[in-house]
Amino acid sequence: MFEEMPILPPDSILGLAAACRADPNPDKVDLTIGIYMDEAGLCPVFNAIKQAQRQLVDEEQSKAYLAPQGDPAFLEGLTELVVGAERLASRPGAVGAVQAPGGCGAVRLGAEVLKASGTDGKVWVSDPSWPVHVPLITSTGLALESYRYYDPQSQGVNFEGMVTDLGAARRGDIVLLHGCCHNPSGADLNPEQWQVIASMAVEQGFTPMIDLAYQGFGEGLEADVYGLRHLIDLVPEVVIAASLSKNMGLYRERTGLAIFVGPDARTAEATVSQAKAAARRIYSMPPAHGALLAGRVLADAALRADWETELAGMCGRINQLRSDFQSRLEAASGRDFSFIARENGMFSFLGLSVDQALSLRSERSLYMLDSSRINIASLNASNMDRVVDAVASVL
Ligand SMILES: Cc1ncc(COP(=O)(O)O)c(C=O)c1O
Repeated sequence: MFEEMPILPPDSILGLAAACRADPNPDKVDLTIGIYMDEAGLCPVFNAIKQAQRQLVDEEQSKAYLAPQGDPAFLEGLTELVVGAERLASRPGAVGAVQAPGGCGAVRLGAEVLKASGTDGKVWVSDPSWPVHVPLITSTGLALESYRYYDPQSQGVNFEGMVTDLGAARRGDIVLLHGCCHNPSGADLNPEQWQVIASMAVEQGFTPMIDLAYQGFGEGLEADVYGLRHLIDLVPEVVIAASLSKNMGLYRERTGLAIFVGPDARTAEATVSQAKAAARRIYSMPPAHGALLAGRVLADAALRADWETELAGMCGRINQLRSDFQSRLEAASGRDFSFIARENGMFSFLGLSVDQALSLRSERSLYMLDSSRINIASLNASNMDRVVDAVASVL
């Protein structure tokens, strides 16, 4: 059966990280993969998560399945973190949520429910976007369309292009937006731009879907959901895919949530029932460990304060790295890199050509995506000089 089966190439991002691991150069630097790294080059476990884990080991009574919708403390805590207590109180019962295996699982469940609505509309995805959006969405049968988002010339959001392209989005279409810390560009909408997009959604009738994988990594837990909450205030239906992979460091625990904000309790019940049915046919039951830890951290005041402080520290470190990297690159190259400090989250396009990125890989063992997207959080005091020197050498 499998004799003639083609062997697929490795995933474009994970394949590069593997190539870096295999590179014998002791001075190699991996700037490819989207995980937070500390000064020691490690992806740390949050202190609050460690504490919650100790509690769970002592107190857990059973490994029986969770409820199909997910762990109640997790559902409540994360829905409130994203949507906000005030908005939940003002729409009793109108917000439904289903636990999902990571942000990817949440995007897929969201897309499944949109497909189940019977829409024959398209899903509009930013150009560029995180490449995994494409298979997650098209595997439901929904068709894709792209809208201009990043302008390589100004190294910021091409808002004019975005508005022009989304002008063609109609009722029944879905517009996928990154809640904050756009992956891969780091370029985010400002509050005024979010307001324009929300007004377009109201006037044109399209449904916003927000991928929220970096809440707390941009300007803070509340500021990072400004756009999303503004949409909730104005637009009757909003779908959200939230991930705790990065902001609670739960990557491998696959901890995500699909949130459906609708006009009333009946709509919430319908969307939740559809998401549970989609989960049942794809993977049946949600994983428990990450959600049980996150539920505890969000519900316990001391653990939550500890988590928020540690997260703010990570965000502060990334911003410091952005500003150090900008000034060192400018000093080494004489060029303007101010865009790096204007961006949010872990990612930035350095603005190099594919040839330059490839030559840095082969000549200097400096690994970045072909598009020159780098993970700023992989920089640290011991590799910064090497990276600056290598980048300046190809400019
Ligand atoms: C934009 C974006 N969305 C969603 C995810 C999903 O993350 P996970 O499935 O690991 O929670 C990621 C992870 O890199 C991402 O960058």
